[in-house]
Amino acid sequence: MSQALKPQDTRVLVTGGAGFIGSHTVVELLNQGYQVVVVDDLSNSSPVAIERIRQIVGESAAERLRFYQANVNDRDQLSRIFDAHDPDRVIHFAGFKAVGESVSKPIEYYANNIGSTLTLVDVMRDHGCKSIIFSSSATVYGDPDSLPLTEQSPKKPATNPYGWTKWMIEQMLADLNTADPEWNVVLLRYFNPIGAHPSGLIGEDPKGIPNNLVPYVAQTAVGKREAVHVFGGDYDTPDGTGVRDYIHVCDLASGHVAALKWMNGREGAEVFNLGTGKGTSVLEIIRAFSAACGHEIPYVIDPRRPGDVTANYADCTKAREMMGWEARFDIDDMCRDSWRWQSQNPDGFAGA
Ligand code: UFG
Repeated sequence: MSQALKPQDTRVLVTGGAGFIGSHTVVELLNQGYQVVVVDDLSNSSPVAIERIRQIVGESAAERLRFYQANVNDRDQLSRIFDAHDPDRVIHFAGFKAVGESVSKPIEYYANNIGSTLTLVDVMRDHGCKSIIFSSSATVYGDPDSLPLTEQSPKKPATNPYGWTKWMIEQMLADLNTADPEWNVVLLRYFNPIGAHPSGLIGEDPKGIPNNLVPYVAQTAVGKREAVHVFGGDYDTPDGTGVRDYIHVCDLASGHVAALKWMNGREGAEVFNLGTGKGTSVLEIIRAFSAACGHEIPYVIDPRRPGDVTANYADCTKAREMMGWEARFDIDDMCRDSWRWQSQNPDGFAGA
């Protein structure tokens, strides 16, 4: 069983802690008094994110943060980091995440996402650390038979290698707990994280053309893109565009802290949806973002994107009842904070 520890005595190793969700979670962990060790190879993030985390939490909390630029697949280096810090819990964000790219680079996606998770849990086992929170995704539900999605909704075959990596890692971690019940595994299935820290200092910083809706809308709002391409206007939804459960990244961050508190002193494997329970269409997002930035955002309706589902949104009753967590921010808050980040950092961290 994982030993029950106070936050100030809990050393949390965070892989991918310089990334979008990771950086917001690290802020929340430091604000709550945890000791944090970030391992990130910066392959899809920036050292500026780490500086900004320090700035947000202030000097004294920042003393509880250590950062290593290292790849989780590098067993020797990871082992040395475990030797040095002896983490009690791991939150595993690191991984490739571009759905389209995963279709053209399956070897890279499986090697990186599956390989690094295997290395990580092996090094954890060697060091007697058996508590892990994993970044899973609503993608494991595929095209849903009914909504809202509960944790009991069936997992469906993934439609791309990225989705399969989430699917398989969930299975691997569940199997670990079956083999050795001392393993404490929490799978968090995120719906669509957007927004940014209200300071405007950290946010989503995609390289190249954004794959996801809100970064694309934000770049259009700031004049970097001409118009949003709406993928499909003929879905069976109220306005014909796709519906998703968008969740503020700060709510997601607090969901990780809730999970850490919940797993403290427990053993077992649990899965939680993290969403708001509300579906929002693409056009509703464009409208809310237009209100946040103060001008109309141009868009065109394009054909559907292959692999996209019509609609999904979560039932988050389980997270509320078991962990006492629920989302606090609405779509207007999310768009306001995304806009603040985008307008203050039009070129992301590269412009810093
Ligand atoms: N969309 C557009 N134009 C764009 C991008 C997206 O109209 O330029 C639409 C999509 O068709 C969809 C909605 O906006 O209806 C959201 O699309 P995103 O690409 O932002 O997000 P997805 O729901 O496709 O994917 C997200 C994560 C994945 C995760 C999945 C789980 O990016 O990592 O949710 O459901 F697997």
